[in-house]
Amino acid sequence: MTSLGSGPARRSRHLTASPRLGTHTLTAGRGLLFGGDYNPEQWPEEVWIEDVELMRAAGVNLVTVGVFSWARIEPQPGARDFGWLDRVLDLLGSAGIAVDLATPTASPPPWLGHRWPRTLPVDESGHRLWYGSRNQFCPSSPAYREKALAIVTDLADRYAGHPALALWHVGNEYGQVCHCGDTAAAFRTWLRERYGDLDALNEAWGTSFWSQRYGEWAEIITPRRAPYMINPTQQLDFWRFCSDALLAHYRAERDILRERTPDLPITTNFMGLFKPVDYWAWAPEEDIVSNDWYPDPADPLSPARSALTHDLTRSLGGGRPWLLMEQATNGVNWRPHNLPKPPGQLRLESLQALARGADGLCYFQWRASRFGAERFHAAMVPHAGPETRLHAEVRAHGNELRGLASVAGTPVPAKVAMVHDWASWWALEERGRPSDRLTLPDQLLRFYRPLWERGVTVDLVPPSADLTGYALTVVPNLYLISDGDAASLTEYVHRGGVLLVGPFSGVADPRGHVRTGRFPAPLREVLGASGEEWLPAQEDRPVRCHWADGTGFTARIWTELMAAEGAEPVATFADGDLAGRPAVLRHESGAGVAWYVATVPEADGLSELTARVLADADVTGALPELPPGVEAVRRGPVLFVLNHGDETRRVPIPYPAEDLLTGSTADGTVTLAPRAVVALRPLD
Ligand code: GAL
Repeated sequence: MTSLGSGPARRSRHLTASPRLGTHTLTAGRGLLFGGDYNPEQWPEEVWIEDVELMRAAGVNLVTVGVFSWARIEPQPGARDFGWLDRVLDLLGSAGIAVDLATPTASPPPWLGHRWPRTLPVDESGHRLWYGSRNQFCPSSPAYREKALAIVTDLADRYAGHPALALWHVGNEYGQVCHCGDTAAAFRTWLRERYGDLDALNEAWGTSFWSQRYGEWAEIITPRRAPYMINPTQQLDFWRFCSDALLAHYRAERDILRERTPDLPITTNFMGLFKPVDYWAWAPEEDIVSNDWYPDPADPLSPARSALTHDLTRSLGGGRPWLLMEQATNGVNWRPHNLPKPPGQLRLESLQALARGADGLCYFQWRASRFGAERFHAAMVPHAGPETRLHAEVRAHGNELRGLASVAGTPVPAKVAMVHDWASWWALEERGRPSDRLTLPDQLLRFYRPLWERGVTVDLVPPSADLTGYALTVVPNLYLISDGDAASLTEYVHRGGVLLVGPFSGVADPRGHVRTGRFPAPLREVLGASGEEWLPAQEDRPVRCHWADGTGFTARIWTELMAAEGAEPVATFADGDLAGRPAVLRHESGAGVAWYVATVPEADGLSELTARVLADADVTGALPELPPGVEAVRRGPVLFVLNHGDETRRVPIPYPAEDLLTGSTADGTVTLAPRAVVALRPLD
């Protein structure tokens, strides 16, 4: 089928607030960024001197300071102690290390909760959450807002002209949820703006169900713990509200910084596929998108999951380079059983992010804490000190990045889009569905993995994106879809795009109401197929499916009773009540093709399906042949090949090239030991 143009040309919707303040403002004169969270308030000042020497030796050129320093800067309400922070910034500045200065508002001091208990968050059971940890604030608390903005103002006033200051880091990993009275009041205000009057709210929330009709605004509360299942639209709107309330707070801090330092970029650290916050709405509000990412060494799918997360992060910034703000050099301490990383793994994971568009590779944290909840979390300098295997790896990795400086700022082109929407995720995973085993992150990864295995780069997009330029658009799940977004997916196919849609998509409207008629109602015409029953599968009975040639695959979790209405059933269910019914359908529609999958195929089935869909879209991977566990991705002129497996692999390469990491040249094939990476620049 026709491929649409030569590259993505959409994105006006997610331009960052100030594109002139991208990562280039940081990399100019520095090259790729390398560093981590630096918490000098945990150490005597003699240690700072050693820190800076070690940082220089390790090629560190950016550190994040002050994330958890509120109590140190403001030991009592209204007091200010900036002296120590002045010395930290001066020291770093004199060593040529740039500072990513954090507003310290993620962890208020105990005095805030003690004197202003209404700043403390309340959980869904109405219990207050206390200080003694971190993150204990209510995003809608006027007192929290006032104190937070006061310290941000003073911080910005004090350091606005400091030569070490290069980037602002607002808060930390926003995600707080609160059910207090102030939050309920703010929720009602948000709902008034959304619905205007109570009749509209009652209609949207479907309150004729279970006698839930609201007679006055004061009756409306957040979805607190209730005897049985909560109204799903109330819950959906609360997800929307929480993301917006946090964003309002982020914006208030950001505006103070921007006013005082209009030429410095601003970021806040995201957490990949983090459910509570709609990053499509957030990303345009920052200058640089940054992400924290902690792949689980125990999870065999980590390499693909990481690639998906990095592709999402790049896509949130409209394709611009981003920062890996936090990763771990070794085991973390917050999983129940924390596997370490084998030698070479920290480098492999870091270079994977670079290959997928990161201009900066940073860690949590510089020096391992001796005390506190994270005393067993890995760091760039472990408890055993700098003369260690781990620190030697950190130092070698930091220094090798100089050879890759030319990669900074270069793009990662993609011909495939994958649609992801937070509101649909929230609605999909509400209680009371046919099966709670169909979850969004799993569906995204299932459809992403066979693309990744073929070296096909993917951009993540919101459902409203302009898909012009993408030859293939994959919709692993879009349970909730607006009429307009369904129409634009249809239009995309009619104009020549190839669309692949996963099960239980197009089911609900933006209120979360089930669309009546055969499903997926708004995509029925483009798919040339429709269904009438959702049929979760029995766990102990794998679902067999056949391709037309008689070969087959196994599916699980979910099936649907579908009928072709113009589409060709390319795979059918093999047995049971659905025997002979379509499991996968392909429909030529206008100048394009639409595919629908009415079940959850296991990996081999999805792999075969992906091969067929890619052939329709005329998309090939970065390399024609990729052994298992080997990843290939192009960034600018450089082809990165990474071996995530435990076996040495020989990979054919299309042209003679220089490996920017070693300076050696390769022709014909490259040999990659386990955890090896090459960064191949074609030889002229
Ligand atoms: C992040 C957080 C850091 C640190 C790290 C540990 O969520 O931003 O402050 O706690 O996790 O993995």
